[in-house]
Amino acid sequence: MRQRVGIIGAGPSGLAQLRAFKSAEEKGEELPEIVCFEKQDNWGGLWNYSWRTGLDQHGEIAHSSMYRYLWSNGPKECLEFADYYFEEHFGHPIASFPPREVLFDYIQGRVEKAKVRNMIRFNTAVRNVEYDEESELFSVTVSNLVDDETYSEKFDYVIVASGHFSTPNVPNYDGFSHFNGRILHAHDFRDAMEFKDQDILVIGSSYSAEDIGSQCYKYGAKSITSSYRTAPMGFGWPENWEEKPALVKVDGNTAFFADGTSKEVDSIILCTGYIHHFPFLPDSLRLKTNNILYPLDLYKGVVWEKNPRLMYLGMQDQWYTFNMFDAQAWYARDIILKKISLPSFSEMQAHTLEWHEKETAQDDVAYAIDFQGAYTQMLIDETDYPNFDIEGVNRTFMDWKHNKKDGIMTFRDKSHASLMTGTESPPHHTPWLDALDDSLESYLDI
Ligand SMILES: Cc1cc2nc3c(=O)[nH]c(=O)nc-3n(C[C@H](O)[C@H](O)[C@H](O)COP(=O)(O)OP(=O)(O)OC[C@H]3O[C@@H](n4cnc5c(N)ncnc54)[C@H](O)[C@@H]3O)c2cc1C
Ligand SMILES: NC(=O)c1ccc[n+]([C@@H]2O[C@H](COP(=O)([O-])OP(=O)(O)OC[C@H]3O[C@@H](n4cnc5c(N)ncnc54)[C@H](OP(=O)(O)O)[C@@H]3O)[C@@H](O)[C@H]2O)c1
Repeated sequence: MRQRVGIIGAGPSGLAQLRAFKSAEEKGEELPEIVCFEKQDNWGGLWNYSWRTGLDQHGEIAHSSMYRYLWSNGPKECLEFADYYFEEHFGHPIASFPPREVLFDYIQGRVEKAKVRNMIRFNTAVRNVEYDEESELFSVTVSNLVDDETYSEKFDYVIVASGHFSTPNVPNYDGFSHFNGRILHAHDFRDAMEFKDQDILVIGSSYSAEDIGSQCYKYGAKSITSSYRTAPMGFGWPENWEEKPALVKVDGNTAFFADGTSKEVDSIILCTGYIHHFPFLPDSLRLKTNNILYPLDLYKGVVWEKNPRLMYLGMQDQWYTFNMFDAQAWYARDIILKKISLPSFSEMQAHTLEWHEKETAQDDVAYAIDFQGAYTQMLIDETDYPNFDIEGVNRTFMDWKHNKKDGIMTFRDKSHASLMTGTESPPHHTPWLDALDDSLESYLDI
């Protein structure tokens, strides 16, 4: 009987899996039956923007953590698909830091071309996954949110591609329950205009803190205070942006910090990261990890060692994104197509531990980028995913890092060269700080 593969999520990772299978089919392979379950009514995952926060129209948790005016925070050249170039999609080179809608269009272009939409059941949320040792089959229970019907189906393989930047990590601080303003997590941030003329406090010192603070600056916040727990971001901030150590408490609208200073603020935005959350998986199948580059229990970052018929995509912290998800998806595909055979459980565990320890051997950004590049290369070497210039991607990441040090409000005005085609990207027609309209039409000047 034809084997069945169930994929959970049609974001960039789930779509990479569908594309990987299609690519094998184009080369004459016979495919298993593939069903991708997506709880939203469209594909794209986080890139599928919604104004909704909290619960969606079906009472499901709203997935997207993206906001209006979000532009890529890294050069697009670092995430370019090796089998579908930006130039092929847009018909000409485009600038290096596209807004969300433009990247959504690019992601969509590849899967429209590959004709995978009929493999996806939209508006279908996965509720439960169970594995039966005897039949060696998974039973996947899902809800069709439109018809309000719940049903179960059997699968030989399950691939979890449900993302891990959607369930917010929300700390509490003394005085929060009596704060006279809005407190929200980055997951619920949508429109920076809401904070125009306000004094805002941003908690956290990673990408959300940097980018949401920058959005608010760009769209007219009166002042930005960002508070770090471990280390300041240390960029050359504009005059009305101040970095403070950890928040201790708030009293009324006054925020108190670990250095004894305080500041009156109107709103607090918790940019405190996300947790890996898989409410549909039992303990025996559930990945438990923090946001790191090489989680334990996943062989080659993909295979659930305790049951290799279960695989995960995109569960790492991410320098590399789309092309790394591709490398993982091609690898998962070739395990299912029996082109790759897996070593024993103890060999897999030992290999994972070695890489997991290697991740923390050095504590600098260049090392982390090289590490994830080497990981991606390790997977590509085992499949027919097109090889690309990983060293070049690593170098581009480092150029971008230096550009950010030179100007945190101007790094998006820089251009990088495609590592796939060698084409230098043109500069964007308007500096990022002045480009208030982030629509695709405005960005592409059409
Ligand atoms: C604010 C923000 C900005 C980012 N910006 C960038 C950027 O500029 N560049 C970059 O490369 N990366 C960026 N990222 C990283 C992002 O993680 C990846 O780009 C990418 O979206 C990850 O893809 P994914 O498919 O693994 O997960 P997701 O995009 O999260 O997609 C997961 C999908 O699974 C579905 N799903 C979840 N649970 C279920 C269920 N139970 N049943 C059915 N379906 C389910 C969801 O609806 C969703 O469609 C950003 C992340 C965030 C949070
Ligand atoms: N424009 C864009 O493209 C864009 C914008 C935003 C986000 N993103 C992406 O979204 C992903 C997630 O980024 P993120 O910044 O949300 O998460 P993150 O990188 O995991 O960072 C979480 C931050 O929260 C802090 N933190 C956690 N718990 C805390 C607590 N209890 N008190 C105080 N601080 C706490 C951490 O501090 P410590 O350092 O002390 O641990 C860290 O600074 C990344 O992949 C990023 O690239 C992209």
